[in-house]
Amino acid sequence: MTYEPKGLESGLTNYGDRDFSRYLRRSFAKSMGYTGAALDRPIVGICSSESGFNNCHRHFPEMIEAVKRGVLAAGALPIVFPVISLGEVFLSPTSLVYRNLMAMTVEEMIRAQPMDSVVLLGGCDKTVPAMLMGAISANKPAAMVVAGPMMTGRHRGERLGACTDCRRFWASFRAGRVPADEIEQIEGRLAVTAGTCAVMGTASTMALMAETMGMILPGSAAIPAVHADRLRNCEETGTLAAQMAKTGGPRPREIVTPAAIRNALRVLLGVSGSTNAVIHLAAIAGRIGMKLDLEEFNRMSDETPVLVDLKPVGRGYMEDFHSAGGLEGVLRALSPKLDPTCGSITGETLGARLSRPLADPIDHGVIREATDPVAPEGGLIALRGSLAPEGAILKRAAATPGLLEHEGRAVVFTSLEDLAERIDAQDLDVTAEDVLVLQNAGPRSASGMPEAGYLPIPRKLAAQGVKDMVRISDARMSGTAFGTVVLHVAPEASGGGPLALVRDGDRIRLSAREKRIDLLVDAVELARRAAAWAKAGTQTTAPKRGYARLYHDHVLPAPDGCDFDFLRDEG
Ligand code: FES
Repeated sequence: MTYEPKGLESGLTNYGDRDFSRYLRRSFAKSMGYTGAALDRPIVGICSSESGFNNCHRHFPEMIEAVKRGVLAAGALPIVFPVISLGEVFLSPTSLVYRNLMAMTVEEMIRAQPMDSVVLLGGCDKTVPAMLMGAISANKPAAMVVAGPMMTGRHRGERLGACTDCRRFWASFRAGRVPADEIEQIEGRLAVTAGTCAVMGTASTMALMAETMGMILPGSAAIPAVHADRLRNCEETGTLAAQMAKTGGPRPREIVTPAAIRNALRVLLGVSGSTNAVIHLAAIAGRIGMKLDLEEFNRMSDETPVLVDLKPVGRGYMEDFHSAGGLEGVLRALSPKLDPTCGSITGETLGARLSRPLADPIDHGVIREATDPVAPEGGLIALRGSLAPEGAILKRAAATPGLLEHEGRAVVFTSLEDLAERIDAQDLDVTAEDVLVLQNAGPRSASGMPEAGYLPIPRKLAAQGVKDMVRISDARMSGTAFGTVVLHVAPEASGGGPLALVRDGDRIRLSAREKRIDLLVDAVELARRAAAWAKAGTQTTAPKRGYARLYHDHVLPAPDGCDFDFLRDEG
């Protein structure tokens, strides 16, 4: 059976008379100045997450014009529609809370409005997973375009890139090594162009995941936001989306398969990408009825070398990665470990893509060969143990090697407020060998799992030159951060997990080699504390109304990607 695009006639508004609905819709569409001939074309929706509260997307108007150009030239009609946007630093309590809301708006607007295919424009951290989750669930033919990374700035002869250097300079400021007038100067030099953060943070990691899974055009994940190639990429995606509108495929669920998600996990380890990507890939997997297997993830990690020398764990920036060959170089180096049968929006399989001759040589100074890696093992691992029976994540590539096997005394903060109040107190009983523990910052806490897992080094230790300590929480960490930071501890503290039972002075042992995180307190004492915790009642008060209530009642734990239980595909 051949596919017939339905264009403006799809999903008619229900007035009980289909012909009237069609006539009314065309009449109102004509009020926008369209001719009948234009309205007879297949329709490509352009899903825009532009917002004045999203600096990373400030070039979207130009990108949208380029997508439209491609759609029109290929004989379809482009129609732009907005969805909510998630500007990482403009949202409170944290952007992750709104990722599912954005995914719902994407899914529902694709489904409810008359379009034969859709181009998704996202970029800033949570927008790419939100759009992919929504598009997978809507399952109309979809192609994505990402914002692309920012260019670096300059400060006194040094290159600066958001946001690894934001943290580096802020730590120096806290330690008294950078004066207030210089930090103000730096503030204006960290983020100097449109686009997403300039390092291998969450946004860049998720762009690479989208390309690995076949949802954006090959070679496009790392094109800088301000490069002319970014606009050419938009035009080409518009052309492709017009063809998809006419043929009715491929659809996201034909592309984003379990094998494609495993390929993405492999690339995540090879680029030592953001820990947040584990949450987002778990959520994306849930949309196709798949659950991430942390033991499989660890097996992959042990056999996948880190290939890129980029901040936050290395030296370069995303613009260097793009000029060095981009994802193509990583995919080629990892190809023996990737499933070549996975498809893409172009219809080409990964194997076919990688068998084509290289257009440009790879710069192996930035993207190493598998025989000469930056590190022999993957950048991330999952931990289990008595402190995290359902798992935790550690970015071992970003950790201090000497802290990867460490036992120390717990210094506990019971909430973000407690942390803010006491971390810099001169009388805080803490040494560099201690383990900082933050409780009640997980998905169901009032703070909504913020990127607070990168606990600041107590000011008195920072002033002595301490740069890293073992830090543990049920929170997340920005993809641009670094340190020996154990994240996403599950079950979370506000649900009564073992993390809630840690007390000042307890011994905690981290072993990256054994992939364990253990609370060294005997079972009888832990049972006593658990009973006391249960007797004290739940530590969180459910919000009374609105989205916060929906979130509280339905958010899944970190190992399931913090999606809503009712949005997963249960098969
Ligand atoms: Fe948007 Fe970093 S703030 S990607």
